[in-house]
Amino acid sequence: MEILKLNDEELHRRLAFFEVTEEDVARLTGLKSFAERWTNDITEGLYELIMGQPESRAFFPDQATLARVKKLQNAYFLGLFSGKYDLNYVRDRLRVGMAHERIGMPPKLYLGAYRRYLALIHARLLEHFKGNASEAAKALESIRKVIFFDMALAIDTYIAAYLETMTRHQAAIRELSTPVIKVHDRILLLPIVGTVDTQRAHQIMDTVLLQVVEQQAKVMILDIAGVPVVDTKVADHGLWSNLDWKSPECTRDRSFPKVSNSR
Ligand code: HEM
Repeated sequence: MEILKLNDEELHRRLAFFEVTEEDVARLTGLKSFAERWTNDITEGLYELIMGQPESRAFFPDQATLARVKKLQNAYFLGLFSGKYDLNYVRDRLRVGMAHERIGMPPKLYLGAYRRYLALIHARLLEHFKGNASEAAKALESIRKVIFFDMALAIDTYIAAYLETMTRHQAAIRELSTPVIKVHDRILLLPIVGTVDTQRAHQIMDTVLLQVVEQQAKVMILDIAGVPVVDTKVADHGLWSNLDWKSPECTRDRSFPKVSNSR
């Protein structure tokens, strides 16, 4: 909820964008008996698709999982007709999105399943309204709005989870790419391996200054033997040209890496 900034204001913005009106809410609430009558049937139709393909079937390792999820799926369907699309509803839908993200289900399967879901609902609506296609279409449109509202939450959950993982990985990479080693009392070594671009040079500089202060270092050795190329921007303005101006004494390895022209 926090990552997606889902408060009351955002909830209303979303409902407005998906054009969920009071008329839709009234129509959906009025379809509760329809929902109760067909929930099992629609769930079975959905699982016919999911269990019919090896890629989606693989997510159900045993009958117990299948039975458990079918039950939850029934409850999910009834929720579409609750008429209460508030923050509790959103919380519940985000939990569904997180369950799918956690098991690594790709969005393509999710979206494909929703296509089948809508087709199943449409067929049952035509039956419910005894062939009155216009009433069935109105009902389908109201259901579609809430389903799309749900799908957006699910996709946002995927993106938020992905961004969170990326941020964690970047932090880990940052830490690994500037490992400061204490070689002696107040003498630090920073081995640098790989290409140093402007962003990384700033990061190294930050680490150097921080560690020098934190560890009261007298000497900081930068081992740049593992740096094949430094771009000209870095060489001119960044870490390399500024090394000697700071106390404590900074040592620059004589085997200076090749400078590539980035202009
Ligand atoms: C129309 C699309 C779908 C809907 C509405 C839906 C709905 C749900 C719901 C309500 C839950 C229970 C979440 C919870 O409360 O813990 C769930 C879980 C689950 N779904 Fe779906 N689902 C859909 C598509 C799929 C597809 C395509 C697959 C497989 C390819 C799948 C596999 C699963 C599995 C394995 C779980 C259990 C996850 C766990 O162990 O926590 N779902 N789904």
